[in-house]
Amino acid sequence: EKGGFDWFMRKEIYEQPKAVADTLLGRHTDDGALTLDEIRISETELRNIAKIIIIAAGTSFYAGMVAKYAIEHWCRVPCEVELASEFRYRDPIVGPTTLVVAISQSGETADTLMAIRHAREQHARVLAICNTNGSTIPRESDAVIYTHAGPEIGVASTKGFTTQLAACYLLGLYLAQVKGTMYGDEIHAVVKELESLPPLMQQVLDNAQPVLDLAARLVDQPSVLFLGRHVGYPVALEGALKLKEIAYLHAEGFAAGELKHGPIAIIEPGMPVFVVVPPRGRDQLHDKVISNIQEIRARGARPIAIAEADDATVEEFSTTVIRLPKVSTILQPLVAVIPLQLFACELATVLGHDVDQPRNLAKSVTVE
Ligand code: F6R
Repeated sequence: EKGGFDWFMRKEIYEQPKAVADTLLGRHTDDGALTLDEIRISETELRNIAKIIIIAAGTSFYAGMVAKYAIEHWCRVPCEVELASEFRYRDPIVGPTTLVVAISQSGETADTLMAIRHAREQHARVLAICNTNGSTIPRESDAVIYTHAGPEIGVASTKGFTTQLAACYLLGLYLAQVKGTMYGDEIHAVVKELESLPPLMQQVLDNAQPVLDLAARLVDQPSVLFLGRHVGYPVALEGALKLKEIAYLHAEGFAAGELKHGPIAIIEPGMPVFVVVPPRGRDQLHDKVISNIQEIRARGARPIAIAEADDATVEEFSTTVIRLPKVSTILQPLVAVIPLQLFACELATVLGHDVDQPRNLAKSVTVE
């Protein structure tokens, strides 16, 4: 059942190329137009959506953070992301022109379920992104995009996350198509790139040895930090969450730009700091993250750069470089998260923990 792997989690990490490919399968016509047939909300209603609120918990919340970057960029609709457990307790502004997107692997998370019930009482339209057919959250939603990860057994979510990312990208592109905020050929180009990603995810898995070796070298660390910027920020948060969950280590993710506003004070000599480096592009994101790496190194910490293949700028100041294939910035989380998942899985294994059944955690949290 574990297919030769030591843990379900590791097996599920390796299943990600297929899980993402399956989630993307059959979503567009030959001429490139997206058809998300599970969407039972009319195009007119979708065109009138004035605000999107994404609600989710844990890892699914981080997928939602990535979705916000993509949706606002592609669809020009204001998009908030909120922790499901906070949503209904703060009297949120929700109405008939609000689209609430609930992201839940299990479809049974009580916080998320209560949040969508609250949203529906306020007449919002609810769309669920879910991995479990017929579970409660999609049953109580107006529309569903199912992820096709297959059953996720490891408590720590991995293929759940990457398939949620794929579904969020599809949703963003679909809304852009409906709202006319992107040209058909622009949408088609992104869809093509998305479809080219599973083999690139496979490359990351095939070249994972350096990250596994790193886990063996870092067993004695009391604390590990993760930095990222733009969509690399939620990836950093996810890397930290994975480590907390299964390695029981103090781990924190920060937005790289916030470093100088406080967190840099906790950087100590020898501290491992993973840095998700954005692809080099026309904006200054990349160069700013490189300066962060220099600052960390100047304080004697160990920057571990996760950067695209031919990016030589990371080498001078990083103690370790983990390479990623070249992809667009907005899609980079699909490949960038993989080394972080593997690192957590390997470190927890080396530490002798039960990776699939971490202490104090349950696979689906059905109480608020
Ligand atoms: C992290 C993890 C949790 C879940 C969260 C939401 O590895 O498993 O943080 O992501 O409890 O669960 P779903 O997506 O089932 O609503």
